[in-house]
Amino acid sequence: METVVSGIRSTGNLHLGNYYGALQNFIKMQHEYNCFFFIADLHSLTTHPTPADLHGNVKQVLIEYLAAGIDPEKATIYVQSDVPEVTELYLYLNMNAYLGELERATSFKDKVRANPENVNAGLLTYPVLMAADIIIHKAVKVPVGKDQEQHLEMARTFGNRFNRLYNHDYFPEPYAFSFGESLVKIPGLDGKGKMGKSEGEGNAIFLSDTPEAIRKKVMRAVTDSGPTVENQPKPQEIQNLFDLMNVVSTPDTVAHFDEAYNKMAIRYGDLKKQLAEDMIQATAPIRDRINAIANDAGYLRKVAEMGADKARESASRTIREVREIIGFRKF
Ligand code: TRP
Repeated sequence: METVVSGIRSTGNLHLGNYYGALQNFIKMQHEYNCFFFIADLHSLTTHPTPADLHGNVKQVLIEYLAAGIDPEKATIYVQSDVPEVTELYLYLNMNAYLGELERATSFKDKVRANPENVNAGLLTYPVLMAADIIIHKAVKVPVGKDQEQHLEMARTFGNRFNRLYNHDYFPEPYAFSFGESLVKIPGLDGKGKMGKSEGEGNAIFLSDTPEAIRKKVMRAVTDSGPTVENQPKPQEIQNLFDLMNVVSTPDTVAHFDEAYNKMAIRYGDLKKQLAEDMIQATAPIRDRINAIANDAGYLRKVAEMGADKARESASRTIREVREIIGFRKF
C-alpha cells in the first residue's frame, strides 16, 4: 500500500482553507492508503511561540483533526516533536541542501519580505525539515495546497541527492496529491488572496467559530458597490465570495446569485446572509465534535501516544537504514 504523509503547521485554530484544502483529502485518503498525518509544531518554532501558546496550538489542531473526521484507528496521527528521528534526518539532509536553492524558495522570500527582523536559519531550512517529514516514512503522495508544490519539488531534490551521493536507490519521490482535478484555493474575506491566519483579523473562518462569529465576519467581508452593466466580469472580492459559496452552498444557490449578479439585481447583503448560513451548516458537525472532544484529556493523550508509537516505529526503521548507508558503524 502506498504511503501518504502530510501535516499542518500548528499556529492555532484551523480555518476553512485548511479544511477544504487539506483535511478533506486526509479524510478520504485514510481509507485507501497508509497515512501519516502530523501536527507540525517544530515548524511553528520559526515564529517563537511562548510555551503555553505552543502547547495550546498543538492541542487545538489535534482536537480539530479528530473532529474533522481523521480516524486514529485508520491513519497515524502524531505530533512532529514526538518523533525525534525526524530532526535527525533533517540534520543529514541539511548537509546537502545548498544556500542558493534555499534562498530562492518562494516561501522563504515571502517570509523575509513580511518579517525582515526575523530571518532565522530555521526559516531558511524549513523546506529541509518538511522533506525529512515526508521521506522519513518513504511517502509517495502528499496531500497539500497548491502553495506547497515548490516544497515538494525540493523534497524530491533532497531525497534524490541523498540517493545519488550514497549510490543507493533509497528514498522514493514524493508528489503533491489532491482528490478532484485541481488543488483547491480557498479565498479569505478581505477581498484579496487566500484564507489565512496571518492575513489579518476577520479574514479567516475557523472551524471552531460560533455561528454568531461566522455571521459577523461574513457580513463584514469586502464587496464593491455592485455591477453597473449586465454580465459584467466579477472583481476579485466578489469572485472570492462566489468561490466560497461554491464550496459550501448548493449549485442552485450559486446559480441564483450568479444570475442576480448578471442581471444587476444582486443584493450583497442577501448573498452574505446565505453564505454565512451555509458555512454554519457545513461546519456544524465539526463544531459539535470539537466541543465534545476538547475536554476529553484522556482520549487526546491516548491518541497522541498511539500515534507517536506508530510514527516512531516507521521513522526509526528509516533512521537505522540511513545511518548504515551513511557509514555510521559500531566498533
Ligand atoms: N509547509 C506545510 C504548510 O505550510 C506544512 C508541512 C510541514 C507539511 N511539513 C509537511 C505538509 C510535510 C506536508 C508534508 O502547509
